[in-house]
Amino acid sequence: MRIVLGISGGIAAYKAAELSRQLIRNGHEVQAVMTRAAEEFVRPLTFASLTGRKVITDIFSSASPDATLSSAVEHIGVAQESDLLLVAPATANTLAKFAHGLADDFLSTLYLAFRGPVVLAPAMNNNMWEHAATRANVALLRERGHVVVDPDDGFLACGTYGPGRLAENDRIVAAVERALQPKRKDFAGETILLTAGPTQEPIDPVRYLTNRSSGRMGYALAQAALDRGARVILVSGPVNLEAPRGAELVRVGTAQEMRDAVFAHLDAATVIIKCAAVADFRPAVEAAQKIKKTGGAVSLELTPTPDILAELGQKRGDRILVGFAAETENLHEYASRKLVAKNCDMVVANLVGRPGTGFESEANEVSIALRSGEFVKLAKASKRVVADGILDHILKLTEAKPRR
Ligand code: PMT
Repeated sequence: MRIVLGISGGIAAYKAAELSRQLIRNGHEVQAVMTRAAEEFVRPLTFASLTGRKVITDIFSSASPDATLSSAVEHIGVAQESDLLLVAPATANTLAKFAHGLADDFLSTLYLAFRGPVVLAPAMNNNMWEHAATRANVALLRERGHVVVDPDDGFLACGTYGPGRLAENDRIVAAVERALQPKRKDFAGETILLTAGPTQEPIDPVRYLTNRSSGRMGYALAQAALDRGARVILVSGPVNLEAPRGAELVRVGTAQEMRDAVFAHLDAATVIIKCAAVADFRPAVEAAQKIKKTGGAVSLELTPTPDILAELGQKRGDRILVGFAAETENLHEYASRKLVAKNCDMVVANLVGRPGTGFESEANEVSIALRSGEFVKLAKASKRVVADGILDHILKLTEAKPRR
C-alpha cells in the first residue's frame, strides 16, 4: 500500500525515521511529507534515504520526476494515489489546522484533498495535550472517523512527566495496518433510523428546557454505520457537530418534532436506534413574550412529551428496535425494565453523572441488555469504538431475525 507519512515539527520527528523503515519492512511504499518546522528537527535527506523517494517539504516543491506536473496541484495527485495518511508526530498546531480546515502548507492541503483513512499520532508537551483546545480538536478529528493513537505517558523533552510522548512505533504501525484492512460492509442493505442529541422545549421566545447531550454518541453511531455500509437517516436535535458525510440529516428542535420526523421515516427503516436524550417534559404553555422578572418566584407547569420509544415499540413491526437508557443508578435493573416496557430488542445502558463518560465526553462505557436476559458490558473506549461494539450486537440481532 502507498502511505503518506506526514512529519510535523516536534522533537519526536526523529522517531518517524524508524517508523518509515518499519512501514517499508511491512511491504508499504512511503512518501514522506515534512512541514517546515519538522525540517528544523530532522533533515529531509534522512527520509529520502530511507524511503528512496524525494521528500515533499513545501507546497511549491515537487516530488515528481515529471517536470510537467504542476507542483501547485501535486497535493491532489499525492492524495489520489495514496491509500492512507499517517501523521507522526502530529503537533498541536497540525491537529488544530486539520480540525479547522486550514491549508497553508503541503501537509494541511493534502489532508483536505485526501479521502482515505487518516491515522494521527500526536506528540507534545503534556499541558498542550490536555489543553481544552487540543482536547476539542482531537474530539473533532475522532468524530470525523480518524484514528488517533494516543501518546504515551513519560518524561517529555521539556522536563515534565505526563501524557505527550509519541506512542511506540509498534502501536502506530498496528493502527495503520488495522486502518488499511478492507472495511466490513456488514450493514449493507440496512437502513438505520437513528436519533441523536438533545431536544429543546421552549419556555418563551428566549429560553428552553434541554439536557447535556452533545450528540457525540449518536453521531459516532451514524459514522460507524455508514462506514459499515448502512443507509443512515439521522434525526438530530440541536448539536454543534458536523453531520457525517453520507448521512441523511433531519434537524429537529422539540420532542414533538423528533417524534414526527421519526414516524415520517419509519417505513424506510430496518433498524431503529434511539440514542437521543429526549426531554421527558416540556412547559405546558410556551409564553408568547419573554417572561419578565418580577422579583418573586416563577412556577413552570410541565407536561409530558410524547414517549417516542414507547410508540415505536407498538408500531415497529419486524424492525430491530434499540433503545438507550441513561441512568445514574441501578443500571441493570432500569435498563431491563425499559427493554420489556418499550418492547425493544436491546437497550444500551449508559451510566451517566460521572466525569469521563456519558454526556458530552469523548469516551463512553455502556452495557447492553438483551432479550435473552444477558447484560453485556463493553469496555470503556472512545464513542466511535463503543459505536462499533453496539453495532456488532445489533448485527447479531439482524442475522437472527427473518428479514423483510
Ligand atoms: O450525546 P452525548 O453527549 O454523546 O451523550 C450520549 C448519551 C448519554 C445521551 C446517550 O448515550 C444516551 O444514553 N442516550 C439516551 C438518553 C436518554 O434520554 O435516556 P432515557 O433513559 O431518559 O430514555 C430512554 C430511551 O427513551 C432513550 O432511547 C430515549 O431516546 C427514549 N425517549 C425518552 C423520552 C421520550 N420522551 N421519548 C423517547 O423516545
